[in-house]
Amino acid sequence: MKVIEAAKFGGPDVLVPRDEPEPTAGPGEVVMRVAAVDTLFVDTRIRSGWGREIFGITAPYIPGGGISGEVVEVGDGVPQDLIGSRVLAYTSDPGPSGGYAEQLVVAGDALIPVPDEVGLDQAASLIHDGVTGMRLMETAAIKPGERVLVVGATGGMGILLVQLAHAAGAQVIAAARGAEKLALARDLGADITVDYSEPGWADRVLEATGGHGADVVFDGVGAEIGRAAFDATAPGGRFSAHGATIGGFTELDPQELQRRRVTLRGIADVQLDLDERRRLATAALAEVAAGRLKPVIGKTYPLTDAPAAHSAIENRTVIGKILILP
Ligand SMILES: NC(=O)c1ccc[n+]([C@@H]2O[C@H](COP(=O)([O-])OP(=O)(O)OC[C@H]3O[C@@H](n4cnc5c(N)ncnc54)[C@H](OP(=O)(O)O)[C@@H]3O)[C@@H](O)[C@H]2O)c1
Repeated sequence: MKVIEAAKFGGPDVLVPRDEPEPTAGPGEVVMRVAAVDTLFVDTRIRSGWGREIFGITAPYIPGGGISGEVVEVGDGVPQDLIGSRVLAYTSDPGPSGGYAEQLVVAGDALIPVPDEVGLDQAASLIHDGVTGMRLMETAAIKPGERVLVVGATGGMGILLVQLAHAAGAQVIAAARGAEKLALARDLGADITVDYSEPGWADRVLEATGGHGADVVFDGVGAEIGRAAFDATAPGGRFSAHGATIGGFTELDPQELQRRRVTLRGIADVQLDLDERRRLATAALAEVAAGRLKPVIGKTYPLTDAPAAHSAIENRTVIGKILILP
């Protein structure tokens, strides 16, 4: 079977195909036929060589931290009737056995069932973004009528946050780059859209909220964009600085936070253990199954086009979620 390996750290072309023997399930394990692999901005950063200390990762490695697929074999101690089930699973994230593979061995007791109403591609798009998005929503505890600013509103997680905040009764302000992305945000329920590639965009958020600012900010971009979003945060607001797509997480002065009574949360607040990830993934799947949440899959790539999938994330050319479909 084929796997895609990052032979070394570097640009997208370090992702190369390799043949491996088909895996077999040991005790307590299952073999999954991989349908879709979640493909994230952070995967491109890791591939480029960033965060080696954080993730304890050395090259070569197989990327891909979350997969959907079908159970095709079970090992000793795993119920036979799991064969044929549609499931989500986390992999060794990323490591010697990441998800960029046609088949993968995972622990039989860590599988997350996918409801019949949810496609395996949709399910894979939720395994990280859905989990983090649901967690951010729980923590923010949005009340109807609050103003919620989603920064990076049409990235994988932004797409979900716009819909979830809208469903919670918020007035949603979506910030992204370019007319096409803003149009998608409106379709997903944003009341106001702002192009953050234009100077003075944070002033427009203030104007749109009658000078009040956003009660809740989900900052999925970071650095100077996040800093501008903070300028448009209401006194007493909640600011989640979980995004770092343009170079670093938003850094805010503790004294200013205190003066403006803004509660700051960050990346540490969305580092979750497996039980919590499974709970939140199940909740996100249930929202999709009920028709209340709609993943937007912008483009899919076969396994051997993994370099193109990474390039598309880095070049921001695709609107919506990018997935690899082995
Ligand atoms: N997904 C998760 O579970 C998770 C968990 C923890 C933290 N995070 C962090 O949250 C942020 C958003 O995650 P995501 O998975 O939703 O990412 P994503 O799908 O790649 O979306 C990121 C968005 O950031 C914007 N962006 C701005 N500058 C960019 C650049 N130089 N390169 C690429 N995109 C850029 C893009 O929108 P425009 O083109 O409109 O600017 C893009 O839509 C990331 O920083 C990620 O590391 C994500």
